[in-house]
Amino acid sequence: MEWTNELTRMLGVSYPLIQAPMLGITTPAMVAAVSNSGGLGSLSLGGLPPEKVTVLIREVKELTTQPFAVNLFIYEPPQYQDRKVFDKMQDFLQFLYGAKGVAAVPVNYEDIRIYSWREQLPAIIAAGIKLLSFTFGMPDEEGVRLLKSHDILLMGTATSVAEAIVLKEAGSDVIVAQGIEAGGHRGSFLPGPLPVIGTMALVPQVVDRVRLPVVAAGGIMDARGVIAAGKLGAAGVQLGSLFLRSHESAATPAHKEALAGITDTDTLLTRAFSGRWARAVPNTLIREVEASGLTVCDYPYQDALTQPIRSVSRELDNPEFINIWAGQAAGKAKAWSAADILEELVRETEALSA
Ligand SMILES: Cc1cc2nc3c(=O)[nH]c(=O)nc-3n(C[C@H](O)[C@H](O)[C@H](O)COP(=O)(O)O)c2cc1C
Repeated sequence: MEWTNELTRMLGVSYPLIQAPMLGITTPAMVAAVSNSGGLGSLSLGGLPPEKVTVLIREVKELTTQPFAVNLFIYEPPQYQDRKVFDKMQDFLQFLYGAKGVAAVPVNYEDIRIYSWREQLPAIIAAGIKLLSFTFGMPDEEGVRLLKSHDILLMGTATSVAEAIVLKEAGSDVIVAQGIEAGGHRGSFLPGPLPVIGTMALVPQVVDRVRLPVVAAGGIMDARGVIAAGKLGAAGVQLGSLFLRSHESAATPAHKEALAGITDTDTLLTRAFSGRWARAVPNTLIREVEASGLTVCDYPYQDALTQPIRSVSRELDNPEFINIWAGQAAGKAKAWSAADILEELVRETEALSA
């Protein structure tokens, strides 16, 4: 197995194996463990306040001297959210919590604070970050100029060939091709119907069109997936679900438990938690919001509305009101340390390709 390629040289890593950024799940310890094992750890910072960005990056740097990436949500927050839709959803959620014997404070619309990627950039640049992955869109021209003037490598997420072309033309150096199998939010950002393209179909079409290093993401859980992605033309893989149950994962015990033994049909795509399409294991919140027939608020307003019950439920370790993001193959996630998971994947891939 020849691990070294253009991507590993660009990233400065031994293996083109990237631990996916997973907001709420990824910890500095997970990022550092993967980077210290020769892969690329990714720290998710999407939507976090700039002070928190600085602290988390510092924590990773205390644990590793190896390269790691940071990850942002790059999108323009909507200027307007219909208040009637917001209030109706809030009333429904409060009614639901009462009926189910749980409680969370209502959200005051005026207090919702959205931190845009533009506000986060100064903290990222000041911390000397050189690898930036992102999802939900692409920085504008000014943003790209600023990032490139600091020699920051850009890794944009595409869920269709059209998105990959937009990312390339705007200056992305690497394309992360995210198949529909993937856990968590869809990175989709072009108007129109949600692209629902599997990794196997997406990767070779993106490879043929963009002629940039392509990273395959979605449904890759073992050496077979790594080798298959390579055969499809990917220069590397990004693995999220594989690390969900790791020791370093911030997933609650109930979240980890909910993933043990799930099968191929046990996840679905939903907007119920955040207003953006995401792949999750269904639970009470998802089922009830979808059955309500109510209009779901746009991202990030729906996300803000469900934050309080998610915090309370994490504290209580109640899986019915947390977002159990998971990919279609998440049942194969291992409850090991992140380093053991990465090292086993390397060994297995070398053995299978020998
Ligand atoms: C719990 C969870 C959270 C995620 N959060 C992010 C994120 O913050 N930023 C991002 O670019 N991708 C995020 N993703 C998507 C991953 O980058 C990646 O596309 C996906 O995990 C790959 O599919 P897999 O889960 O089948 O490995 C998340 C995925 C999961 C499972």
